Amino acid sequence: MGKLKYNIAIVGATGLVGSTILKLLDEYNIPVNKLYLFASKKSLGKKIKFQNKYYEVNLLSKECFKDVDFVLMSAGSQIDYKYGLIAEKSGAIVIDNSSAFRQDNEISLIVPEINYTDFFNSKRKIIANPNCVTIQSVICLNAIKKKYHLKKVIYNTYQSVSGSGMKGIFDYQSALDGYPKEFYPFDITKTCIPCIGKIDDANYTDEEKKMEFETQKILSLPNLEVHASCVRVPILFGHGVSIYLETEENINLIEIKKIFKEEKSIIYLESDIPTSIEIINTDKICVGRLRQTSLNSLMFFCYGDNIRKGAASNALQILKKLISQ
Ligand code: A2P
Repeated sequence: MGKLKYNIAIVGATGLVGSTILKLLDEYNIPVNKLYLFASKKSLGKKIKFQNKYYEVNLLSKECFKDVDFVLMSAGSQIDYKYGLIAEKSGAIVIDNSSAFRQDNEISLIVPEINYTDFFNSKRKIIANPNCVTIQSVICLNAIKKKYHLKKVIYNTYQSVSGSGMKGIFDYQSALDGYPKEFYPFDITKTCIPCIGKIDDANYTDEEKKMEFETQKILSLPNLEVHASCVRVPILFGHGVSIYLETEENINLIEIKKIFKEEKSIIYLESDIPTSIEIINTDKICVGRLRQTSLNSLMFFCYGDNIRKGAASNALQILKKLISQ
């Protein structure tokens, strides 16, 4: 993009994703000129260290993006929607972690290793970062899509409490300490909860609908049949997904193993069990438990770090590509 250093704003800088973005700016070698940190009134004036300097947390306003090149947002969909539009109008490129813009046809929904070029086909300067558990799932599906035509996908997810942000972690930890639950509808230390987000009249949850829609959009397969059951589990970090898929062609399992082994973002485990322990604090997706269930169907399990590749790292990988243009 021509500049040597960029003015960067992080909205939701005190949250789980925002603070990880800040932590990873150096790891991703993002050349920062000015840095602006935004959060709610609760955090006004708080000082956060970045590269040996303290930055004060500020409140959002209509003028706050005036000299900003890139805005990385993760303050929840309502705030992100309102200020994402303001930032875009100010001339900044926005990378938004919430679901605010994902369904918008004009806005690209990007996993850089799959569909980075979608941004250049969009007239908008907002890029949506996909849902955390969808990112790790589509990376696996996209690898298979290079050799097979996908017909049907069924997801069953095992999503950690950090997927709900600080609120999820706080509810889990305070329940462990014996305090009553505040955020989840049940005590998350005592049960898995097969409901993430609101349930609609057809008994689908928000999270399930996100996975279905976003898989089709990212893979550019609008007619792919996708079903999801999303479950919150009492684990702090890392999301697991059991994936069943059907293809048009008969499957050669040896070829599928080769595909997974060759995919840069995937650690493929032939006989070991994939766990979150394998991938926490990395940007890799761990895949294993692969088995063929019929001539044209198979199942496997994948694990991903929901805060890194599922959110902060994916956003920074998009940013890195933009500034490398
Ligand atoms: P704060 O910490 O001041 O509440 P998480 O998803 O981990 O819960 O993080 C949400 C992030 O969004 C936090 O940084 C939070 O700031 C921020 N946030 C929440 N409400 C607002 C708001 N009205 N304006 C700006 N940032 C907000």
